[in-house]
Amino acid sequence: MKALPWFLCGVLATGAAFILSAAAFILFSANGFAASSRPGPLETWLATHARAAAIPASARNLANPIPDTAETLSEARAHWADHCASCHAADGSGDTPLGRHTWPPAPDMRQPPTQRQTDGELFFTIQNGVRFTAMPAWATGAAHDAHDSWKLVRLIRHLPALTADEKADILRQTPRTPAELQEEIEEQKFLNGDKE
Ligand code: HEC
Repeated sequence: MKALPWFLCGVLATGAAFILSAAAFILFSANGFAASSRPGPLETWLATHARAAAIPASARNLANPIPDTAETLSEARAHWADHCASCHAADGSGDTPLGRHTWPPAPDMRQPPTQRQTDGELFFTIQNGVRFTAMPAWATGAAHDAHDSWKLVRLIRHLPALTADEKADILRQTPRTPAELQEEIEEQKFLNGDKE
């Protein structure tokens, strides 16, 4: 009978030790809470597994209801250019100023850690975002959101095989600041041999 209180103490002590070591892990890692440092392998492993475990099994096993057609991919490219490429880059590499300097950084989605995930997991992440990261939740409650997200899942699956033309199509549709537009016009003029 005396064993129960000791058992509870043990559980509490283990819990407290876990929380303290997690806090120490963050605080004593090179730059504390700074967004500029790279997450180490242990932190990446913990974060990725915690996130995967938090996705309900019913969501993980959902099948993509949107057919994998040229039209789907074309619509998804427009959407990706508009909403995702600022962080994830046109080709999904995450190689943009925003994608690189947020913490955790935007992953290279062409690589196995992303491609190994189920369609349902990718869909869930797009709809719900990832807490404590720069990844926003895109679901607003409108019915077309789910459609758009499933189309984006098709595009993410296609990223490892993205052609140069498809990448150019995304870049062409990526929003630009007025300064960037002006620069492009100047470049075009120069390439056309316009001396002015
Ligand atoms: C403001 C920056 C930002 C924007 C815009 C953004 N994301 Fe993300 N996204 C991130 C970051 C950062 C992560 C990594 C989160 C993490 O490490 O858990 C991420 C992760 C993801 C993941 C999970 C990848 C993986 O390997 O687990 C998917 C899928 C994703 N984003 C899709 C999208 C789509 C689709 C859009 C556009 C509708 C989008 N994101 C827009 C920053 C962004």
